[in-house]
Amino acid sequence: MHSQTTQSYKESYARSLTDPESFWAEQAAYIPWYSAPEQILSADEEGLTRWYAGGKLNTCYAAVDHHIEQGRGTQTALIYDSPVTDTIRRFTYNELRDEVARLAGVLQTLGVGKGDTVVIYMPMIPEAAFALLACARIGAIHSVVFGGFAPHELAIRIDDAKPKVILSASCGIEFEKVIAYKPLLDEALRQSAHQPVRCLICQRPMLRAELHPRRDLDWQEAVAAANPVACVPLDATDPLYILYTSGTTGKPKGIVRDNGGHAVALAYSLRAIYDVKPGEVFWAASDIGWVVGHSYIVYGPLIQGCTTVLFEGKPVRTPDAGTFWRVIEQHGVSVLFTAPTAFRAIRKEDPEALLRNKYDISSLRYLFLAGERCDPPTLHWLQEVVPVPVIDHWWQTESGWPMVANQMGIEPVPIKAGSATWPVCGFNLQILGENGQPLGANEEGYVCLQLPLPPGSLPTLWKDTPRFRQSYLSRFPGYYLTGDGGYVDEDGYVYIMGRVDDVINVAGHRLSTGEMEEMVGSHPAVAECAVVGIADELRGQRPIGLVVLKDGVEADEPHLEAELVSIIREQIGAVAYFRNALVVKRLPKTRSGKILRKTIRQIADGEPCVVPSTIDDPAILDEIRAKLMAHNIGHAFRFQAI
Ligand code: COA
Ligand code: AMP
Repeated sequence: MHSQTTQSYKESYARSLTDPESFWAEQAAYIPWYSAPEQILSADEEGLTRWYAGGKLNTCYAAVDHHIEQGRGTQTALIYDSPVTDTIRRFTYNELRDEVARLAGVLQTLGVGKGDTVVIYMPMIPEAAFALLACARIGAIHSVVFGGFAPHELAIRIDDAKPKVILSASCGIEFEKVIAYKPLLDEALRQSAHQPVRCLICQRPMLRAELHPRRDLDWQEAVAAANPVACVPLDATDPLYILYTSGTTGKPKGIVRDNGGHAVALAYSLRAIYDVKPGEVFWAASDIGWVVGHSYIVYGPLIQGCTTVLFEGKPVRTPDAGTFWRVIEQHGVSVLFTAPTAFRAIRKEDPEALLRNKYDISSLRYLFLAGERCDPPTLHWLQEVVPVPVIDHWWQTESGWPMVANQMGIEPVPIKAGSATWPVCGFNLQILGENGQPLGANEEGYVCLQLPLPPGSLPTLWKDTPRFRQSYLSRFPGYYLTGDGGYVDEDGYVYIMGRVDDVINVAGHRLSTGEMEEMVGSHPAVAECAVVGIADELRGQRPIGLVVLKDGVEADEPHLEAELVSIIREQIGAVAYFRNALVVKRLPKTRSGKILRKTIRQIADGEPCVVPSTIDDPAILDEIRAKLMAHNIGHAFRFQAI
């Protein structure tokens, strides 16, 4: 019955597509249901795909209480490793249950119940994981906002999610900087129309926050006074969380995740992709603000009965480039998952990996990479310094779990540099051309998934099914548009070549250049602008802006650039890493007026490019190239127009 341990990849994959109901019915058996699903795959009244309708479960129960009932109560569930505060704390499943149940009790006293929303804006401390699980326990829908986002981004999400309560902390720590979160939250609440009933603030000793007398509560005091509450049975199709992600405009997309499909898909992925067993240590070095943190710091490893590591630090300078190796040794990590950027940072500081030799990393069985393209030099370096399979795998917030991977729990296959390997069971991946025609081997096109999407993938966008259909389903009827371009080679290996829309990936952080254009364009001196993501050695990509001034405006260019840089920093956050805005006379456009952003990027990256025949004035490309070279940006000196 447990297909992935007995069948090869090809058989499992074929069956997941030809008979998805029986495939996913089998996988559902790994989850503790209060009552079994009535239907495996169905459509709801809006015609949206639903998995496991009629089933009742609670994701917090599956992740915590169930393991205690199975005798794992004294096993470590969570290790908080914080080199920035010099702290290591371990929580057994029993202790985790007690923390979560009492926090859920606090939320209940504040009037939060099933279907209410809760925004979580927190640094990487154990209370953040408790917060997600406490919401899940009582059926409240959480929406975590990445701590690196500025008040404006937080305010947009508060206005969309309309939380009854916000959970936050007094501060976060970035290298040696203490970042006061509370003033950022206060500012966001000044900007948002919606106001929560209460904010629960976790006070950290390095910086205590001043509490608003009527609105804010001290987390520790509230939890100490609370009674623990039990898990509430929920429908499989009830939402577990909303996670906002960047789309092509300033309005982020509220990705919805359900309870049933999500739990089944994550449990499947831990077995079939990550090949990790209950009791083993799983470490996703990411942030709870991203989907990786949701799926593989909190829910996935706990549902699988593993020990998860919650790491408050960086790959370098906390205190050095040996931190990752130290954590692997100290906690006996079996599987590590991080973004290639993290290892680019480590390689930069310790190119010979000398610090690695100081640690015993023999517990490690696999290293998984995702979040951005894994460039072959980083892969090759890792293959030299880490004596385990280095697995690039591809997914996105919308899918919630990997769509393309080397499924180590089914059948490891040879790795090809630059490819994330084969489509994961359940994902019917197709490469389509401009007109929706399926493309052949090695032909680059739109990476799409034939519907239905498997369990765990987004059923819709929060309170916006029309936008869901329009953004993902309308371009090619019958298919989900991932937003990535790529190709499949003659052996079925998938190569993801980058986004085909205005989304970029900066140090593994997904950001919208369209949103940045809206912000840069709001400056009174700017007539129009283009923001593009150019190659960055450390971060993979970084955004730069080209701006055209309004007629008659004489701007001091360095001063204007500084103003535009600070707009992005203040409105999105320092993580956007927007450092350059150059004034040009015109933007390159087609004769129909479309800005040639791809051509700008190619100039900056020094890639040879065919000058589009529809360009209205090719001379403008030379001006842009000269400007970029004068500012020493990118590799424009290499550019060749064909
Ligand atoms: N909260 C507040 N600020 C943050 C932040 C957070 N969570 N994360 C980053 N920032 C700030 C940084 O302090 C920096 O601010 P500064 O301009 O005032 O110095 C700015 O955002 C840019 O940060 P970053 O691009 O991350 O550069 P860095 O030099 O601070 O760190 C790396 C570089 C590679 C070490 C870091 O980007 C990293 O660890 N990347 C891995 C990312 C990752 O795991 N992503 C998850 C996807 S799976
Ligand atoms: P996010 O939703 O933040 O997880 O970002 C998802 C996007 O990151 C994808 O659509 C890709 O563009 C990119 N991405 C994630 N993983 C990979 C990978 N392994 N290879 C290439 N691109 C990736």
